[in-house]
Amino acid sequence: MPSATTPPRRIFISTALPYANGPFHIGHVMEYIQADIWVRHVRLQLTDADRLYFVCADDTHGAPIMLKAEAEGLTPQELVARIAATRPKCLNGFLISFDHWHSTDSPENTELSQDIYRKLKARGLIYPKTIEQFYDPVKGMFLPDRYIKGECPKCGAKDQYGDACEHCSTVYNATELLNPYSTLSGATPVLKTSEHHFFKLSDPQCLAFLREWTQQGRLQSEVSNKIREWLGDEAGENKLVDWDISRDAPYFGIEIPDAPGKYFYVWLDAPIGYLASLKARLRQEGIALDDFLRDPGIEQYHFIGKDIIYFHTLFWPATLKFAGDPYHVPDNVFVHGFITFSGEKMSKSRGTGISPELYLDLGLNPEWLRYYLAAKLNDRVEDLDFNPDDFIARVNSDLIGKYVNIASRTATFIKKYFDNRLGQQFAALPMAQETLQQADAIAALYEKRQFSAAVRQIMELADKTNAYWDQQAPWTLAKRFDTLSDAERAALHDTCSVTLEVFRLLTLYLKPILPKLSGDVEHFLNIAPLNWREATATLPPGHTINDYTHLMTRIDPKQHIDRLLEMQAQKNAASAPAAKSVVASTPSTPTTQASPTITIDDFMKVDLRVAKIVQAEAVEGSDKLLKLTLDIGEEKPRTVFAGIKSAYAPEQLIGRLTATVVNLAPRKMKFGVSEGMVLAASGETPGIYLLQPDSGAQPGMKIK
Ligand code: MSP
Ligand code: ZN
Repeated sequence: MPSATTPPRRIFISTALPYANGPFHIGHVMEYIQADIWVRHVRLQLTDADRLYFVCADDTHGAPIMLKAEAEGLTPQELVARIAATRPKCLNGFLISFDHWHSTDSPENTELSQDIYRKLKARGLIYPKTIEQFYDPVKGMFLPDRYIKGECPKCGAKDQYGDACEHCSTVYNATELLNPYSTLSGATPVLKTSEHHFFKLSDPQCLAFLREWTQQGRLQSEVSNKIREWLGDEAGENKLVDWDISRDAPYFGIEIPDAPGKYFYVWLDAPIGYLASLKARLRQEGIALDDFLRDPGIEQYHFIGKDIIYFHTLFWPATLKFAGDPYHVPDNVFVHGFITFSGEKMSKSRGTGISPELYLDLGLNPEWLRYYLAAKLNDRVEDLDFNPDDFIARVNSDLIGKYVNIASRTATFIKKYFDNRLGQQFAALPMAQETLQQADAIAALYEKRQFSAAVRQIMELADKTNAYWDQQAPWTLAKRFDTLSDAERAALHDTCSVTLEVFRLLTLYLKPILPKLSGDVEHFLNIAPLNWREATATLPPGHTINDYTHLMTRIDPKQHIDRLLEMQAQKNAASAPAAKSVVASTPSTPTTQASPTITIDDFMKVDLRVAKIVQAEAVEGSDKLLKLTLDIGEEKPRTVFAGIKSAYAPEQLIGRLTATVVNLAPRKMKFGVSEGMVLAASGETPGIYLLQPDSGAQPGMKIK
């Protein structure tokens, strides 16, 4: 806690930058909710002199995004823009209070990455080295390990990835695979040399710095234990190996200033994206990033998942430390576990997990999820299980049954007997005092990210409040209200009022978790926004509150949960790999490999129809897409964007019949919404061939 002599706080908080190749999944949302609760807690402690910036961005660079864009007939920028457009809905929907959302494909990030690189180089920590790597001669690019498959050198299992065997778990180098092939083209990769740039992490000064920074007790114990394994013990050998930070063209990334045709490996520029986002945000206030970072009050925190610890606790602090001024080494990295579903890993193919977008579309209350996750999150690197029954129970029985219930019970009395006006003496009553005394302890739990413990403590207070109300049994006095003495009337009045005062405190305690609900309560109680520094400012004696309006509905297991799980299963089925092989574009797997077997039921899920192309036009700004207007026998024609511009002139297509998938979820693209997909064939050689039914077929006919 800051004392009078500490400078104003300058706090910079980030969450991991999600890859911009797909919409958010529930794991992302869990991370944002965890960080957002902490951020809101911290904000409630700040004074006017302090500043806090909570930022994130899309992580746009790297081979997977480049290849995915290509497969969809888009430029990487178009793909990234399409994904970026989906972000606000979820972020706003789950009440995530980022101050800024940026992109790693931005001028700020280019400038910062190049600056950091130059500074590291000037310190002698960057050097070139020629390495030998697999190269796809058909695709014309070096292959990351995940795009190389072959037979395991140990057990001979077929189709194993370039880094480890899923069959016998042997770890090896891609070059050791037998009969290797590129998963991009099917071609046999060849070894080719190339000059790469390395960050000299093995340098003794890096090791010394990282030993110190990681073992000072700031990190979670599980994290620092892991790092100790990576670093090796004090007496033993240096286990840190130098980091390959460059990639060869073609690569979607940031160019290395003094090395034409070379790009920064995405993991170099990704965390720098935190600073790029902060820089863009600060500019809105005319503040220079350098000044902010050099401020003596600076604190820098990163929230991440357990799979990216190495990058954030070794590479990232070392990068910042040795780049030097004005960069600031993180004060902490907060690591969380993964969300699982009824004990299972999130997986599309097995139909587990829930889509955050679907959750919102079905009208489920975001604060249910925020509360549920808070009730289960702690400061350890543990996985968190989402269990539908547990979800319903925690929200309905605890949040609503205990906490919201206090307001709804009390409000009726205050309105009916006291015209929404509070009593005079209530604030001094033990119930209010006891609840207030917990404020520091609860704030301390939030500070340590022990949200589940905080929620438990708050719910215990809610239990006590309900017990107090039951024991006071205000309804017995109320029953003979007209005959009450002045003292009895004041007692009844104070019981109702103190219960509301306690409700005010519980609302403050839950405010980081429930920002919307707490706002509604502030309105109901007719008070200014609650904050921690003014926790002791009780409801004033004689204060008038507003009429109670319903604060939160219960989860209906059928209407909400069953529906959510059902729709999710449908959604998974619709996006299963089977539907993917009909995209009108270059396949991402060799055509020689057949997809896994499906049942006739699986096939029948795809609603294929004959479509007549009534209009076709080029899409301005896209060199891959044509905009097609399709008559499929419906009242209104549909719009479909197809990546077939390289093969067809628009006027060639008008009037033609083709085959189309009509029950695909509509997809928002940069240029508009695509309401289906036309079918075309393509192979390893260039060329795209639109399917066409025999003459006589009519628009709307089912294809089966
Ligand atoms: N782009 C990198 C991060 C770069 S940070 C400079 C990345 N992206 S990601 O989209 O794969 O993951 C983003 C965050 O989501 C990571 O912190 C990751 O740990 C987290 N999660 C991914 N799956 C998760 C769960 N199932 N549960 C909780 N968090 C999960 O990694
Ligand atoms: Zn093997």
